Amino acid sequence: MNTYILAIETSCDETSVSIIKNGQEEIATVILSQMDTHANYGGVVPEIASRMHVENITLVIEETLKKANMKMDNITAIAVTYGPGLIGSLLIGLMAAKTLAFTYNKPLIPVHHIAGHIYANNLVKRLEFPLIALVISGGHTELIYMKEDYSFEKLGGTLDDAVGEAYDKVARVINVPYPGGPLVDKLAHQGEDTYTLPLPLDDNTYNFSFSGIKSAVINLAHNERQKGNDIVPENMATSFQNRVVEILTKKTIKALKEYNVNNLIVAGGVAANKGLREKLTEECQKNNIKLTIPEIKYCTDNAAMIGAAGYYAYKLGRRADLTLNSKASDKLN
Ligand code: KG4
Ligand code: ZN
Repeated sequence: MNTYILAIETSCDETSVSIIKNGQEEIATVILSQMDTHANYGGVVPEIASRMHVENITLVIEETLKKANMKMDNITAIAVTYGPGLIGSLLIGLMAAKTLAFTYNKPLIPVHHIAGHIYANNLVKRLEFPLIALVISGGHTELIYMKEDYSFEKLGGTLDDAVGEAYDKVARVINVPYPGGPLVDKLAHQGEDTYTLPLPLDDNTYNFSFSGIKSAVINLAHNERQKGNDIVPENMATSFQNRVVEILTKKTIKALKEYNVNNLIVAGGVAANKGLREKLTEECQKNNIKLTIPEIKYCTDNAAMIGAAGYYAYKLGRRADLTLNSKASDKLN
């Protein structure tokens, strides 16, 4: 019998609902992005984000069912991102999910946002274990070892800023508008590596640190401006991106070798980064590693990934009752 998960994701500034069949097949997804609104403020304004989720969530649910040509009766279970994320935004998706679960008497499946990003890869091709997941988003930079479905062993993570956060901050310094990451990536392909920046936390651990390179960019820009010059944004973007891509690739390949794993998946918004995709593809080919990266539209926040993760959570018997609460931060589990 087929399992249809209706998934809801509202952890940040995207209101998204998706219906996923058997963890791998996308039936319908709707993503309503608030990016244009938040761009006016240079970043996501939490209060505005939650209000917009309230306005849109019912519409997005209805639209998804219509697109799938399905009714709630056809749905097996409701999966929802309970955290981590913006608490007010999470609560809207959670309330909608609880309401549906209660009204239609369906199981409620709690999904960790990062498990969702990881399982976005399952929509490309069934995950093969053991694998290493490089999780890189606006809030996370982690290397995770998975020996089977839903088993997450953290090998290392960021000690300060997440890589996406560093991208967004560097974007501001070089006067790139919000959302910074994709635009810095684009500029990096137009410039040259002319600025001397440190390779961030080049040590033997699987940890990362991006606050040093971020400060180095700020200081360089400041010094140049004091001299009456300005930095060349394209060149700064190239120099910054090269160092970041280098350290992410270096530590990821090291983990794959040390753990004797030949499956790599990449997850999170920064997985959309073209420079990183190119470098990882090259290194994985050299080292005989099977690399999976989701299509760009599934790298950033969406409910399809929550539906994919939700299916495996459902099969493992994970359930929540109506007391489920949202969490701004929570360990991946
Ligand atoms: O996963 P995501 O959509 O939201 C979180 O869960 O955090 O990731 C958003 C982050 C932002 O910091 C954004 O600037 C970054 O991913 N990002 C990129 C690119 N596309 C999105 N960073 C670098 N290069 C990109 N192409
Ligand atoms: Zn995300």
